[in-house]
Amino acid sequence: MARDGSPAALTNADPASAAVSVRDVAMIYGDVHAVRQASFDLAKGRFLTILGPSGSGKTTLLRMIAGFDAPSRGEIFINGQPVSAVPPHRRAIGMVFQKLALFPHMTAAENVAFPLKMRRFDARQIPDRVERYLDLVRLGGYGGRRVHELSGGQQQRVAIARALVFEPDLLLLDEPLAALDRKLREEMQLEFRRIQKELGVTTINVTHDQREALVVSDEIVVMDGGLIQQKAAPVEAYRAPANAFVANFIGVTNFLPGRVLSRTGPDLSIAVAGLSLPGRAVGDALDPGRACAGAVRAEQVRIASVDAGLSGLDTVLAGRITDAIFEGERVVYEVEAESLPGQRLRVFDHDPEGHAQFGPGACVALGWNARDLHVFSQ
Ligand SMILES: Nc1ncnc2c1ncn2[C@@H]1O[C@H](COP(=O)(O)OP(=O)(O)O)[C@@H](O)[C@H]1O
Ligand SMILES: [Mg+2]
Repeated sequence: MARDGSPAALTNADPASAAVSVRDVAMIYGDVHAVRQASFDLAKGRFLTILGPSGSGKTTLLRMIAGFDAPSRGEIFINGQPVSAVPPHRRAIGMVFQKLALFPHMTAAENVAFPLKMRRFDARQIPDRVERYLDLVRLGGYGGRRVHELSGGQQQRVAIARALVFEPDLLLLDEPLAALDRKLREEMQLEFRRIQKELGVTTINVTHDQREALVVSDEIVVMDGGLIQQKAAPVEAYRAPANAFVANFIGVTNFLPGRVLSRTGPDLSIAVAGLSLPGRAVGDALDPGRACAGAVRAEQVRIASVDAGLSGLDTVLAGRITDAIFEGERVVYEVEAESLPGQRLRVFDHDPEGHAQFGPGACVALGWNARDLHVFSQ
């Protein structure tokens, strides 16, 4: 959905005005529809992440954008040019994959110089250019090291410098951080963001890691089953997911299956296990009687002791803690509401020190606001 709530305007009329324009693209292998239908535009200098579970078609879409594989249907334009018309060695695209494919017998500097030599760049200017890009990835002074003398993170940086040194129009990243441990991965995510902002290079990144997508991107394309589920800025994808898949894939969401009781504009009342819960409609197919699911984020659910209560919230239920998991910066509670037997709700408490803490078995009040119960048709 677009920000104004109108149906998603994923493409402009003119593919020449976008840095990348994907138009009605599909990729079919035998009876596997790896990409069923995809269209979007990306403006120059933007950082887009294609986010989705394994097998959703991310790599297939990226390979078509790179021009490695021709789509079964549709066309892709880079700077207004159909990709398939340009031979691979003439394409100004830098790439980093999970397997870095650095040349192990070469030094860091020789690796970074390689694309310049391939492109017959003026040999006298190569050392300066290589040094500039090693500096950019914070490897100044490491040019003489061989690949095996560098740490995993440093090798990543060499791969980034090599992908960028010839100043491509487009940078494509296919899960380059997936193999790194968490701390290094998070550090490199911030590095990608910094370098991309510094150079202003149009970037398409592929990941299954929702946190990475939220952290690094200007825009996110969420994919599932070979279809784009939503294209939105990170904040919008998180706060206003277009459908239940996106709500489930990004963030931690409690789903309450039920039926629509009544609707007035965006305001709904839904029946869940004999309760009547107020919520907000996402989309139009939510007439009374329709099967639906109410979705509330774990951080939008409040809990309090029974005595303190939760006045001011639109929905308040009595519940019992079934589990409490200390995660350092937050406590994750699992709560069973008395009136929703068999349904475990997850609740984040981000300020455990300031709050009373509850152990398993404790009776609590739990609640949320109607605007935070997003209702999707099922
Ligand atoms: N060359 C191929 N031949 C047949 N099926 C393929 C090929 N490449 C990908 N697929 C299938 O297409 C689907 C999407 O794959 P892929 O784009 O690699 O997903 P992702 O990168 O999101 O994990 C998967 O079901 C995969 O098995
Ligand atoms: Mg992949």
